[in-house]
Amino acid sequence: MKNTRGLSPCGFPLVFSKSKTGFTKKYAEFIREALGCPAYDYKSSKNINLDSYDVVIYGGSLYASGILGLKKFKTRLKNQKLIVFAVGATPPKEGLDEELIKANFDEEERKNVKFFYMRGGFNFDELNLIDKGLMKMMKRSIEKKDPEERTPDEKGMLNAFNQPVDFTRSKNIEPLLDYLRKVENNEENVG
Ligand SMILES: Cc1cc2nc3c(=O)[nH]c(=O)nc-3n(C[C@H](O)[C@H](O)[C@H](O)COP(=O)(O)O)c2cc1C
Repeated sequence: MKNTRGLSPCGFPLVFSKSKTGFTKKYAEFIREALGCPAYDYKSSKNINLDSYDVVIYGGSLYASGILGLKKFKTRLKNQKLIVFAVGATPPKEGLDEELIKANFDEEERKNVKFFYMRGGFNFDELNLIDKGLMKMMKRSIEKKDPEERTPDEKGMLNAFNQPVDFTRSKNIEPLLDYLRKVENNEENVG
């Protein structure tokens, strides 16, 4: 039976990285609810045998353009098709997906991957000490710049230090759901 999003309950797992401040977990929850797929955080996913699936969804937050946990996760895959969603603070913009795909997958891997970017948020108070230190360094370097020369992203970043920002919206998973609808209707192959 189809679910409310017009998709069959998916038979493949969704695994998400340690969500340091909760944004990736929130998207994993939206996707789990929409698809009815089994969802695991990275730690609990170690108990499942990925070999028995043809398709796997992996979600991870962005740290210096790298998708958290993805490198390690890839070593657990054989020939499965991989659907990846990355969660970052940056607003979506032209060229961003290509940039992130290039940073996280080699040419061979790109053939088997479908990638989505979803905007998360930023919560300085919830970061660990190392990340707080890195972000403070970044803040200082932005503050050194002439305010007129700061990019919109940099201005947004400075504001977010004072007040947590949350851009997670359930509508942001729609492109991933649309893609799965197409796969289900055989209009598109995974990857
Ligand atoms: C040290 C550090 C580096 C980051 N690098 C990026 C980045 O390269 N691109 C981006 O969009 N967001 C970046 N962020 C923001 C996080 O990706 C963002 O807050 C995300 O929503 C966190 O998700 P999580 O709570 O699930 O871990 C960075 C945050 C920190 C602390």
